Amino acid sequence: MEAVLFVGVQGSGKTTFYKERFFDTHVRISRDMLKTRNRQSLLVSACLAGRQPFVVDDTNAAKSRRAEFIEPARAAGFRVRCFFFRCALREALGRNRRRPSGQVVPVPGVIATFKRLEPPVWQEGFDEISIVEVDAEDRFAVRDWTREQGDPPRLEREQG
Ligand SMILES: Nc1ncnc2c1ncn2[C@@H]1O[C@H](COP(=O)(O)OP(=O)(O)OP(=O)(O)O)[C@@H](O)[C@H]1O
Ligand SMILES: [Mg+2]
Repeated sequence: MEAVLFVGVQGSGKTTFYKERFFDTHVRISRDMLKTRNRQSLLVSACLAGRQPFVVDDTNAAKSRRAEFIEPARAAGFRVRCFFFRCALREALGRNRRRPSGQVVPVPGVIATFKRLEPPVWQEGFDEISIVEVDAEDRFAVRDWTREQGDPPRLEREQG
């Protein structure tokens, strides 16, 4: 059984990736859809109790938020996988801008998430970390990040 956590700013492609890769197998846990923390925790508990794989499709920018999922999932014997949607701010803003009008996120919200995003680190308890990037043809490129490589860094051009 696996619990999957996405980490990435608004517009980084998380929901698109979910639909491509997990729609048929994993329940989607999303704050946008569920609205309240209570509903979210009820649904996660149901997945854990029922041995149902799930994906937390949220920005999950803060380690503390991720811990709310990682600890119970591990306690229930789930493997925990992280997909880190590593993308430059301007790419996220560009994709956000091209969304259908009702789905465009206010720009300051994307920038704020970008600034506070804490990249995933092994110490949080992940069994696997993968990096998702979008290639020149707009396809998702997924790479496994090994423990030997240390913690995944931000893109160089994002630093500073
Ligand atoms: N690989 C891609 N190629 C082209 N367009 C993409 C790709 N991934 C996502 N998009 C487009 O970019 C926009 C944002 O993608 P998506 O909704 O998946 O982002 P998100 O990370 O789920 O954002 P949010 O956190 O706000 O839910 C959408 O309009 C989507 O169609
Ligand atoms: Mg989304």
